[in-house]
Amino acid sequence: MTRIVHLSDLHFGAHEPALIAPLIDAVGRARPDLTVISGDFAQRGTRPQWQQAEGFLNALPGPLLSIPGNHDIPHYNPLLRAFAPYGRFRRATGGPDEPVWRNSRAVVAGLNTADRWQWMRGKVSPPHIDGLRRAYEGAAHRTRIAVMHHPLEHAAVTVDPLMRGARDLMQALPGMGVRMVLSGHIHVSHIAPFRDDPGILFVQNGTSLSTRRRGEANVFLTLDLEGPSLRVTRHYATPRGFVATAPESWCLEDGLWLQPGHQPMRAQLPR
Ligand SMILES: [Fe+2]
Ligand SMILES: [Fe+2]
Repeated sequence: MTRIVHLSDLHFGAHEPALIAPLIDAVGRARPDLTVISGDFAQRGTRPQWQQAEGFLNALPGPLLSIPGNHDIPHYNPLLRAFAPYGRFRRATGGPDEPVWRNSRAVVAGLNTADRWQWMRGKVSPPHIDGLRRAYEGAAHRTRIAVMHHPLEHAAVTVDPLMRGARDLMQALPGMGVRMVLSGHIHVSHIAPFRDDPGILFVQNGTSLSTRRRGEANVFLTLDLEGPSLRVTRHYATPRGFVATAPESWCLEDGLWLQPGHQPMRAQLPR
């Protein structure tokens, strides 16, 4: 089994200080093979906020896979914003903004959808899509997972138009053999196959630490991969720390993500 912990939208600077220690403790106890953080580490991308984020990352068990969100670009410094938008991200996370992690069962590839000129909306362009395709070269039978801050489909709540290039990326993913997309940005969790492609599971996380909640408690996810099966567990913040809810089981059958005991909705099947 491969266990991935998925954190998102920490928003240091607009975060719940009392949740930092319980979150570090819960992630440590989960003993993940990989911890993914899908962007918005900081609230305004300032140096003090990034220092707080870096302290938090240093307390997590490795390995970590981090990608930037729109809030991670320096908000108040126009020179940094224009010429080094990901400098603070790279210093704090210690890695590239489109990292790749592999083990014998999975390839997890990050995509940077934060854009200094499309601040809220986000953007993906053909070179990024080509880079994602190259990340899966040699993946063979491994489960291919993509991580990006901005979602590819409106789910749970609609706050912005979809990012620029979302449709092109959505159309490219099946050809790359991608089976799962992990996103953040919306601050509400949602797990279901994409409406446009039920062969790809959309794992939309909520916010793990931020005060900017949208009707859902702070949350992180564990994803347990075992062959074609996946178990997803939401862990919610409570006064007793983060508490796991009943896991959700998914299985990839004949190229479609299904929940055991549930029939696929005909409207979701490709025509
Ligand atoms: Fe966010
Ligand atoms: Fe965001």
